[in-house]
Amino acid sequence: MAESSSGKKVILSGMRPTGRLHLGNYLGALENWVKLQDEFQSYHLVADYHLLTTNTDSSGILHNTQEMVKDWLAAGLDPQKAPFFRQSQIKEHCELHLICSMLVTTARLERNPTLKEQVRDLHLKTVAYGHLGYPILQAADILLYKGNFVPVGEDQVPHVEITREVARTFNSLYGEVFPEPQAKLTRFARLPGLDMQAKMSKSLGNAIDMADPPDVVWDRIRTAFTDPTRIRKNDPGHPDGCAVFHHHCRFNSDQEEVVRTECEAGDRGCVDCKKECAAKISEFLAPLQERRAYYDDHPDEVMDILIDGEKRARETARKTMDDVRAAMNLG
Ligand code: TRP
Ligand code: SF4
Repeated sequence: MAESSSGKKVILSGMRPTGRLHLGNYLGALENWVKLQDEFQSYHLVADYHLLTTNTDSSGILHNTQEMVKDWLAAGLDPQKAPFFRQSQIKEHCELHLICSMLVTTARLERNPTLKEQVRDLHLKTVAYGHLGYPILQAADILLYKGNFVPVGEDQVPHVEITREVARTFNSLYGEVFPEPQAKLTRFARLPGLDMQAKMSKSLGNAIDMADPPDVVWDRIRTAFTDPTRIRKNDPGHPDGCAVFHHHCRFNSDQEEVVRTECEAGDRGCVDCKKECAAKISEFLAPLQERRAYYDDHPDEVMDILIDGEKRARETARKTMDDVRAAMNLG
């Protein structure tokens, strides 16, 4: 039973609801999700419980969910094709999480490199029990919908690996219920941040948001890190170390070679180069922002989309839990 009732393979995609999304989120995930939504039966999960693993202040969670979902809609995800839903609204996530938690050792979870990175980056002094179990909750998210593929970035691959182990262990103990999901890596290199220090990230403040209007995009590009060895307009440049060039590559790709050649030859001024780049980014974002504006004006429709998606996702989740309970002789 590795396929959905439509006969399509199942994709489970998820994000923690941290609010508005940036260009790195778009290129690293959303663009790909949009491409996959026709060929596969996709599920688009708002991982609100996962957010609590590192952030117990839940006061902004609903607002941030709405902001994120508006960016999903802006990107072109169609909630008719693939339900959008909050983890917290489908109790079966908790039930399956509990069962999966019996099938993984604490030593296995302590080895999880993504956890180690989070502890380091967030300077955590202690780790919550639920944070250690983060990959188990993610496994439950994926297995509950019998996911075949999980589109993720490198940092999430260890979680998909743990999900595969949980599926194998469950199947060998209780009978074949779950397919073993595979990670589907996004092909493109990550978009670097505007500071060129790290990947584009909300917490580092080095990002352009999908919803940023042209004046903000210009301001962000104007102050982006460029080649520091270029003092005069005619100095030869090193575009690979320039954040603006990396944005040209993705949003002005027709001109990538022209920008590179002119920059390297010292035939291109940074101010003009930045103006062209900012204009291209805003041109790209305009139709997305137009879609978003509709939902800014109709916030009730955003909630309706979630509530409807939750109804549909819950049906699948309940069926899977029936299979799980039958396999385990529970009730
Ligand atoms: N851990 C994922 C992230 O931070 C979010 C997530 C939660 C997820 N559950 C998922 C992703 C299930 C894919 C499938 O990006
Ligand atoms: Fe970067 Fe463009 Fe300046 Fe070259 S000319 S350093 S690509 S901003």
